[in-house]
Amino acid sequence: LRRLQVLSPGFLPDVGLSGGSLRQAPCSSSPSKQEDSSDLVSVPPHLFRDAPVSSRSQYESLYSQSLGDPDGFWGGEAKCLFWKNPWDADRPVCAYNFDKRKGPIFVEWFRGGYTNVCYNAIDRHVDSGRGNQVAVLWEGNDPRFNARITYSELLRYVCQVANLLRSRGVKKGDRVCIYMPMILELPVAMLACARIGAIHSVVFAGFSAEALSGRILDCQSQVVLTCSAVRRGDKMLLLKEIVDEALQLCSQRSGFSVETCVVYDNETAVPRKNVAWQARDIWWQDAVRECSTSAEVEWMESEEPLFMLYTSGSTGKPKGVLHTVGGYMVYASTTFKYCFAPRKEDIFWCTADCGWITGHTYVVYGPLLNGTTSLVYEGVPAWPHPGRCWEIVDKYKVTAFYTAPTLIRSLQAYDKEHVKKFSRSSLRLLATAGEPINPKAWNWYFDVVGDRRCPILDTWWQTETGGVMLTPLPGAWPLKPGSATLPFFGVEPVVLDQQGKELKGPCEGYLCIRHPWPGIARTIYGDHKRYEETYFSTWLSYYNTGDGCRRDENGYITITGRVDDVINVSGHRISTSEVEAALASHPGCAEVAVVGFPHEVKGEGIYAYIIQMDGHTDRGELIKALKVLARKEIGGFAVPDVLHFVPGLPKTRSGKVMRNILRKIASNRTDLGDTSTLADPAVVSKIISSKM
Ligand code: WT7
Repeated sequence: LRRLQVLSPGFLPDVGLSGGSLRQAPCSSSPSKQEDSSDLVSVPPHLFRDAPVSSRSQYESLYSQSLGDPDGFWGGEAKCLFWKNPWDADRPVCAYNFDKRKGPIFVEWFRGGYTNVCYNAIDRHVDSGRGNQVAVLWEGNDPRFNARITYSELLRYVCQVANLLRSRGVKKGDRVCIYMPMILELPVAMLACARIGAIHSVVFAGFSAEALSGRILDCQSQVVLTCSAVRRGDKMLLLKEIVDEALQLCSQRSGFSVETCVVYDNETAVPRKNVAWQARDIWWQDAVRECSTSAEVEWMESEEPLFMLYTSGSTGKPKGVLHTVGGYMVYASTTFKYCFAPRKEDIFWCTADCGWITGHTYVVYGPLLNGTTSLVYEGVPAWPHPGRCWEIVDKYKVTAFYTAPTLIRSLQAYDKEHVKKFSRSSLRLLATAGEPINPKAWNWYFDVVGDRRCPILDTWWQTETGGVMLTPLPGAWPLKPGSATLPFFGVEPVVLDQQGKELKGPCEGYLCIRHPWPGIARTIYGDHKRYEETYFSTWLSYYNTGDGCRRDENGYITITGRVDDVINVSGHRISTSEVEAALASHPGCAEVAVVGFPHEVKGEGIYAYIIQMDGHTDRGELIKALKVLARKEIGGFAVPDVLHFVPGLPKTRSGKVMRNILRKIASNRTDLGDTSTLADPAVVSKIISSKM
């Protein structure tokens, strides 16, 4: 394995960001309604002559086939992958119920088929003679460090880790928690789990010990994989210490003890001898060295679980969204193929951390299932200089670059020179995901980064959808800045009004999806009732996305933002109620309400209204303590941007906090609507006048 070094930190864009688009109830007559960009942008199609879809009419016919004949369309796509046993031929590829009135909600794809995602992502390419192709390129936080691993080398490494997990008793169906930075070993760990049928639960290594312990307890993972420490930018993160604290919380809170903690020794960040050690801990490198480089594949029935990933909802604790083997694999592979039109020589760089769904689907599974070379970047995007991303693009001749709008907005603040001094001539495709991209950032990305040559795919999707749902296909139809344009194959979006009536033609409303697509999450781990309530209760018989949207005369869909109490900070999905719970736990806080507000770089920022407890006078101390609490209970990205001390909150007579009013005040809007129904209408002007 030609690994030069391994070190450090990892995550990517914690640069946060989220959305140029303002939260708004889509059906309300909101006067601040954001206007769509009316200009369509066409890109010379020559870069995509060999793309699987090259025109809108070709798309239309394939799209109707995908809806009208799912067996033909998805069966055909699934057959591009290897199945140990084919799925049952005597029933449809998909069985489901989306209507609670008819019984429990369920979705099944490719029932009776046996396959393995790791086998398809690695062995299949090695077996077909492509073992010497680079599977993963790794660029360290420190630009002097990098590594590359071919498909054959990756296969041996993954087998070793699979054997290591098996030797610690991990079997099919067991949960393995992965709390690692963006080192090569993170995808290796995920693939090793997939190989043996263990369910991975990757927890973003920016979450606190508190948040990590909640996730370990929820799914009872007996094994945790981590890394001693990592450098990220010029900061050091002591991950093993965070894991130790989390595991202590697990045993204090519910007597749960993790059996094995495998620690990757990142000696360039911290020497081995400085790492606190317990009986359950083993060093990754020592253990891997002892393991054989071949490992049997565990053949999995299509509907058996592949992984879970925690995400925030509008209420309650984070939920473990569960994806299954067959459907997720086919969806990851198919969306990657059509959206990114990969060629053999492509170098694909998705900047997402593997701690989020984008990293799962488009750093690891999508590219590897297609035999593409995927770049894993350990560091932060603008460090040590604002041109770092473009320097990496030139260094590895990256052909497709996929990131979050937040990153674009943060880089836009620097002089163009930081982009222009790198050639970027290898790029042919740009993409974004995770939050709305405002037309200004879109245009900067298109003009300055892409030299007006590269299409931008604004891809809309969610942790629960497994892969891209709305997106342009490169070169196939004109782009519209800020719009995710048209649905992917097999996805039938419907726009509903307040009463749940389907709207036709150009309209604005709530975005739902009619039928299942293969990548839809099957349940929330251990809480199927919550799954049914979250996604299938508001609008009966549709999957409810929680987003609002507009559709124009072209059929293009533009996402307007969440319509629930979820906010999107730098592409990180955060529940306002989780932040409220963290802040309210401080004895100096009598009451708290948290909302999102437009933030130039992060998309949305976190705005907390606080009623201070009587007698608690030191406001400066309280502010500091509240920030520490948010960091401790959730993570650094959940620290409020604004803490506003108020004398009261706007409530209805029944005591419900009117968050809509708070959102408008936080956004400096004056159209507060009718406040006369409030229990105390005077509170509104008091809040506004205390805002400075
Ligand atoms: C929420 C899902 C993209 C997967 C990673 C984030 C928002 C996502 C877009 C987009 C406008 C977007 C939505 C969605 N979102 N992509 N292209 N335009 N908004 O997954 O953390 O589950 O968040 O992100 O509000 O519901 P997630």
